[in-house]
Amino acid sequence: MFELEGRTALVTGAGQGVGAGIAELMARQGAVVAVNDVVAERAEAVVERIRAAGGAAHVLPFDVTDRAAAGPAVRGFERRAAPVDILVNNAGNGGAEGFRPTRFRDADPAEWQRFAEVNLFGVMNTTRAVLDGMCARRYGRIITIASGAGVQGLGFGVSLYGAAKGGAIAFTRHLAMEHARDGITANSVAVGLIDPAASGRQADKTAAMAKAIPVGRLGTPEDIGAVCVFLASREAEWITGQTWQVNGGQPTT
Ligand SMILES: NC(=O)c1ccc[n+]([C@@H]2O[C@H](COP(=O)([O-])OP(=O)(O)OC[C@H]3O[C@@H](n4cnc5c(N)ncnc54)[C@H](O)[C@@H]3O)[C@@H](O)[C@H]2O)c1
Repeated sequence: MFELEGRTALVTGAGQGVGAGIAELMARQGAVVAVNDVVAERAEAVVERIRAAGGAAHVLPFDVTDRAAAGPAVRGFERRAAPVDILVNNAGNGGAEGFRPTRFRDADPAEWQRFAEVNLFGVMNTTRAVLDGMCARRYGRIITIASGAGVQGLGFGVSLYGAAKGGAIAFTRHLAMEHARDGITANSVAVGLIDPAASGRQADKTAAMAKAIPVGRLGTPEDIGAVCVFLASREAEWITGQTWQVNGGQPTT
């Protein structure tokens, strides 16, 4: 069960952290994985790791916020390698410039755009690039990596990020309905707090926040990868339009 043999998956922002974990787990389940990142060297390192573990992967660098780049990049990959059956919209956070929590009142309006570009329009750009092919082949799995900040109010400076993630969740839910008869499912994963070490970052105040997580630890890329493998599988074809909270049991209302 949950085999991805014969499938091709594109994971955006997969050069480190959660995306790298998703790419590695999907490859382990037999998928050929296109590893996207705006930083090509990061994607290359993940491809090497996947291949060293016996999996199949290709580097596919492009900036998900650049609509003019995403389409040609995906079509070129599909011509060279294989059609994309599974898309994981993982690139997000603060984008290439990193994440600095800022309350709405203190944020320059230029920041509004930046969070929406990667967390919302990036999802649309990459989804648009794979959608026609999925419709033509009548098979597709679209998974959007969102955040608890997209479904609940938080007071520590993530309103711009949360607005973009909330938009991505709503977009994914509508996409699911528009394509429910096309063999395509679309779901979001509202991720809780992940161990910053997974992204090569120093342990910060998340260590203290971890104590408030009911299961007693921060999340890992593997926690999210396992959910994505399931949602990407043939067996999950009756699950669409959903937002799954994967957060160690944190209440979300
Ligand atoms: N880390 C967490 O605690 C957490 C919590 C909730 C949700 N999330 C979500 O999970 C996803 C992954 O988070 P992470 O912490 O692993 O991120 P990260 O910042 O560690 O890694 C993101 C990767 O995406 C790449 N990237 C950034 N902008 C890009 C762009 N425009 N095009 C292509 N690639 C781009 C970066 O180069 C980087 O390698 C994000 O969508 C994030 O919002 C993370």
